[in-house]
Amino acid sequence: MCGIVGYVGAKPAEGVVIEGLRRLEYRGYDSAGIALVDGGTIVSDKRAGKLANLEKAIVDSPLPQVTTGIGHTRWATHGPPTDRNAHPHLGRARRVALVHNGIIENFAELRQRLESEGVEMASDTDTEVAAHLLEEQLETGVDLTVAMQNVCRDLEGAFTLVAVDSQDPDRVVAARRNSPLVVGIGEGENFLGSDVAAFIEHTREAMELDQDQVVTITREGVSVSGFDGTPAEGRRYHVDWDLSAAEKDGHDWFMRKEIFEQPRAVADSLLGRRGTDGLLQLDEMRLSDQDLRDIDKIIIIAAGTSFYAGMVAKYAIEHWCRIPVEVELASEFRYRDPILTASTLVVAISQSGETADTLQAIRHARVQRSKVLAICNTNGSTIPRESDGVIYTHAGPEIGVASTKGFLTQLVACYLLALYLAQVKGTRYGDEISQVMDQLEEMPGHIETVLAKAEEVYALARDHVDNRSVLFLGRHAGYPVALEGALKLKEIAYLHAEGFAAGELKHGPIALVEEGLPILCVVPPRGRDQLHDKMISGIQEVRARGARTLCLAEEGDTAITPYADVLITLPQVPVLLQPLVAVVPLQLFACELATQLGHDVDQPRNLAKSVTVE
Ligand code: F6R
Repeated sequence: MCGIVGYVGAKPAEGVVIEGLRRLEYRGYDSAGIALVDGGTIVSDKRAGKLANLEKAIVDSPLPQVTTGIGHTRWATHGPPTDRNAHPHLGRARRVALVHNGIIENFAELRQRLESEGVEMASDTDTEVAAHLLEEQLETGVDLTVAMQNVCRDLEGAFTLVAVDSQDPDRVVAARRNSPLVVGIGEGENFLGSDVAAFIEHTREAMELDQDQVVTITREGVSVSGFDGTPAEGRRYHVDWDLSAAEKDGHDWFMRKEIFEQPRAVADSLLGRRGTDGLLQLDEMRLSDQDLRDIDKIIIIAAGTSFYAGMVAKYAIEHWCRIPVEVELASEFRYRDPILTASTLVVAISQSGETADTLQAIRHARVQRSKVLAICNTNGSTIPRESDGVIYTHAGPEIGVASTKGFLTQLVACYLLALYLAQVKGTRYGDEISQVMDQLEEMPGHIETVLAKAEEVYALARDHVDNRSVLFLGRHAGYPVALEGALKLKEIAYLHAEGFAAGELKHGPIALVEEGLPILCVVPPRGRDQLHDKMISGIQEVRARGARTLCLAEEGDTAITPYADVLITLPQVPVLLQPLVAVVPLQLFACELATQLGHDVDQPRNLAKSVTVE
């Protein structure tokens, strides 16, 4: 997500901060800003767009040569990517400058309180409230470290905050809760960064912090405490990566890094969705409850991986809300003269928010007076801008061309939409909705469990480097997972890979099966006995014809053992949520196979991250 840099030392802070931000550019961003402490005042500049815009502004209007500063590259979440929403944000007396990564869940109530006290907000962000709160604290006479501890105790959500106080130019203070922050330890200088890439050219000595800790850096040293002020110790370590590995957090590919970021991305996409009354709230839904009650049909339009997320959404929405759902490829949609009315809800799923096929499809739907809701990962992009409402996913920027964390967070948004519709239409009781939310909130832990077995999957991938063809089988919500597993393999390993609904095998595809053909089988949980048994029959059919069955099945599923040449276990989760865990081994499999084949995993041949032509 956002990039954060903090510095105090002997060098000109402007250079260190801008260079640090450049090293963090790979994280993706849509605006950049800097604040320096200059003899009792804060000097700041911030610009929408690339870092070059900020640098140009600084050339036109130079900053003072001082040695304490903070900087930020923003990936918009609350409010579009504009100059005013860019960080740093200042308190009303311009005493504090603050940058932030993450989401402050209770910002709306804090904002309301500040506004009632006469504070005028200068941005649409959740961040700005924290700048005002810090300044309020400093006015009581405490220092910036104590102010940060006090403010953090009142914040909910996930955040990294880094701040400077104009009256205390030798100190930079940061805090973290469920959001990245590392300290760089130098000689007579210290650094803060979202990751070590921010300061690796200055020092390779780093310090890791725990959750809910505040860190203060000065020229002389680093001190750490809990949010309650209890002194604490950070964990020091030496970084032996080069810059390119540092950007990828030690991984060889952005795609692999993004696969491992999925627990965090899923957790972030669930943040702030339950109100204090326990009801689901989708802040940028913008469609009224009455609009949603009037909906009698949903058409989901999307392309590629996003289309497969839409297929999962169909199972969830129809089951929980009893509304008919069609899922349509965006590129086909408007050419078949679809039946659209004012009571049709069109849901456009797009990670980038710029896919031309999807954009043209929603334009067509709006002309027919249907309501359009976007599910998107890119704040301020065209598709959400042209939609009636939006559910933003919080995957952070996805750099690998093949979508991974984008897909998982789209699934989360689809489940949220389904549950929200169930709440509004009353097709599920409140406690049933809460139960599914509880289960969703357990998913990051389950995804971690799957990732912990990555080596097992890598070994399996290495065993298959000589195969030219791989099939994938699934049923129910596992069918789109099979399609997504096959797409990943096509995209980055350039192998012939096909996904099938297990029940369709006997209607043709089974003719493809020959001795030794690897077939990855996504076995549904046992709760739905018929589904599970039918899947086992499909697996038996292909195995009887010589296929090598590589099965993904839930922990404790002994019924599958006799039919699995290889068994990869998944955590026990409800059938509709299983895609969130089942797709992860398939991503790892494709990533490792493509690596073994010597392909450029992050930039596969012929593919673009954002397909802006029809
Ligand atoms: C697959 C992939 C593509 C995209 C598709 C839609 O790994 O990345 O199939 O899913 O091009 O892109 P968005 O979601 O940006 O509309």
